[in-house]
Amino acid sequence: RILILDFGAQYTQLIARRIREVGVYCEIYPWDVSDQDVIDFGAKGIILSGGPESTIAENAPVAPQAVYDLGVPVLGICYGMQTMAMNFGGKVERADHQEYGYAQVRARGHTALFKDIQDEVNAEGHGLLDVWMSHGDHVVEIPESFKLMASTSNAPIAGIANEEKQFYGIQFHPEVTHTKQGGAILERFACTICGCAKLWTPLNIIEDSIENVRKQVGDDEVILGLSGGVDSSVVAAMLHKAIGKQLTCVFVDTGLLRLNEGDQVMDMFAEHMGVKVIRVDAEQRYLDALEGKTDPEEKRKIIGNLFVEIFDEESSKLTNAKWLAQGTIYPDVIESAGSKTGKAHLIKSHHNVGGLPEDMKLGLVEPLRELFKDEVRTIGVELGLPEEMVRRHPFPGPGLGVRILGEVRKQYADILRLADNIFIEELYKQDLYHKTSQAFAVFLPVKSVGVTGDGRRYDYVIALRAVETIDFMTARWAHLPYDFLGHVSNRIINEIENVSRVTYDISGKPPATIEWE
Ligand code: XMP
Repeated sequence: RILILDFGAQYTQLIARRIREVGVYCEIYPWDVSDQDVIDFGAKGIILSGGPESTIAENAPVAPQAVYDLGVPVLGICYGMQTMAMNFGGKVERADHQEYGYAQVRARGHTALFKDIQDEVNAEGHGLLDVWMSHGDHVVEIPESFKLMASTSNAPIAGIANEEKQFYGIQFHPEVTHTKQGGAILERFACTICGCAKLWTPLNIIEDSIENVRKQVGDDEVILGLSGGVDSSVVAAMLHKAIGKQLTCVFVDTGLLRLNEGDQVMDMFAEHMGVKVIRVDAEQRYLDALEGKTDPEEKRKIIGNLFVEIFDEESSKLTNAKWLAQGTIYPDVIESAGSKTGKAHLIKSHHNVGGLPEDMKLGLVEPLRELFKDEVRTIGVELGLPEEMVRRHPFPGPGLGVRILGEVRKQYADILRLADNIFIEELYKQDLYHKTSQAFAVFLPVKSVGVTGDGRRYDYVIALRAVETIDFMTARWAHLPYDFLGHVSNRIINEIENVSRVTYDISGKPPATIEWE
């Protein structure tokens, strides 16, 4: 396995995903872990990530000494290369201008890292690589024990190597897809140079998880809050396979779900797979609790707390249950761990509503704790869940509760469900669904005038929202074709009573958020 030390770059998780795609297990630790943590991990190789800081700043983050003393190969990427260079006596300076975007790197000599990996070969026989650069500082003096491995016209020192120690530094980013040979370079490092076997495959992951769950819970019973989202669905499928009838799922139908979603969840799990699912029809309780509430954060709290309350009621009836299963995934684990000194620029993600009460005295079963979202999806398909379900866009915990602006009412939720369904149906039909990262309708409780035939109508407004994003922290509004939007708008206004107007949201994030509340 490979250890990745995170210096706070936005791309660190991408490095880990690329390494895992190759079939090698890896984990991310913050850069300021102890030497002992590094030793205990037992890595066959270490990667130092990029980062937003400057290596020449005072108190700049540096890797624990153990990284360089362990005798395993090390790959420094961007900041990681700079800090490695400084550690061995090289020199880093602020570049006159930042380099950001495509560059062509010339590979010098035949280092093990680049050998035979190239996009082109130039007249002198040097391999050329098309890469993605993003840096302000650069290495200006190579440490004595290193040699030059790559250069570009802007960054004469774009790669360094100490082949004896198998230490490599590259200024560009192999983890982003713009670097065409990035995958091959990371594979070369993990498999050839570090000697990791490609054992991290979906089937192995499932087998291991099943075995671990069986060992962990023995004959005990397990409860799972099933929401219909990807993570809890995959946990349900996995646990069903591992422990069958020892699993009971509690599915709280909040009345804030998408069209027919409650029935679909029951069909899929209870009918089709034979999972024990208790469906709690809680629509009225949610509507009562939300009556007159308009503040988004207050609404979120009410929805979250009520979930916990209901889940608690149901699970206390299952007196034999000793374990609570949760769909925690690896990014949640990394983000809540953070850096010990808080220096790494960690980006916090939204936490799902429904953190569960501490006094439940149940042990936790988290079979997806080590997995990235794309791995969860792959495993879901392998476990027999339909593609369409595991590739569905994310849906927020508070559901339609934050897509009905202001007070939540049943009439509004019903209108919104129909509109959203038309939008999504059309996106699928036109093969646009997977070209957006998240798409949905929003209900605006304002009335606007329209005409149909001879009649004047005075009805509600629906906003459509579709975004493209990788990390959901920033997003661009999806440039959907006008004809398509026109068609969706027509269908919504014609088919749904009480809607007189449809608008399309063209706000980016930032400054707007993806959800409207
Ligand atoms: P925003 O609106 O903050 O959304 O740009 C970013 C991503 O997070 C989702 N989101 C939530 N998910 N509980 C959730 O589980 C929430 O309260 C919540 N609010 C936003 C949103 O759908 C988008 O994918």
